[in-house]
Amino acid sequence: MAENLTPPNVDSGESLRKSDLSPDPIAQFQVWLNDAIVAKFIEPNAMTLATADIDGRPSARLVLLKDVDDRGFVFYTNFNSRKASELDANPNVALVFGWDKLGRQVRVEGTVEKTKDSESDEYFQSRQFGSKLGAWVSNQSSVLPNREILESDFERLSAEYADKKVPRPLHWGGYRVKPESIEFWQGQFNRLHDRFRYRRVNGNDWIIERLYP
Ligand SMILES: Cc1cc2nc3c(=O)[nH]c(=O)nc-3n(C[C@H](O)[C@H](O)[C@H](O)COP(=O)(O)O)c2cc1C
Repeated sequence: MAENLTPPNVDSGESLRKSDLSPDPIAQFQVWLNDAIVAKFIEPNAMTLATADIDGRPSARLVLLKDVDDRGFVFYTNFNSRKASELDANPNVALVFGWDKLGRQVRVEGTVEKTKDSESDEYFQSRQFGSKLGAWVSNQSSVLPNREILESDFERLSAEYADKKVPRPLHWGGYRVKPESIEFWQGQFNRLHDRFRYRRVNGNDWIIERLYP
């Protein structure tokens, strides 16, 4: 059984040296995200978002990275969802990107704040018609008695907005994760993997440290 669960080979044989790394973790992340795009991952920007409730009980789910720059990592969601309630009570989060066939993982830890309304509006308007309506009809994370309710709400709104601009619902928008640490992991032979962690110090400087695998 355990043998069957042996993961695909993460021993990429690609070594990672400190001298390979950009001094700026966001620039380094963009290089690796681009490598994942080139490697044709279906969702190269998918990341696990871990949150915790007020009692420290964790929960995790996949979300899509929609923007990244010096300010942080942006995703969009429903502000009434379980994750959003947890973020209201506790803004500390962790993100994980897993690019298995490259033998790579990136871990981010930091705190969230909501993106500006103008930024959420702009992204919302770039979405497909159906996705916009999806944001309106989903009371994300609440109990849905049956699927027909969701589908009939969708049909009703499809007709209502057939030739109108769909506004962004106020319960939907972005969060930006401001990173305090970002770790780059490269799989190596014999489980002697390479790990480098960038740690934020004095506001905007970063210290890079190699970690035991
Ligand atoms: C590949 C993938 C991408 C997803 N992207 C998002 C996303 O960007 N935003 C979102 O709210 N949910 C996204 N989801 C759904 C979430 O995983 C989750 O089911 C939903 O956000 C409700 O989570 P919550 O109840 O913990 O708040 C995605 C799911 C998958 C499998």
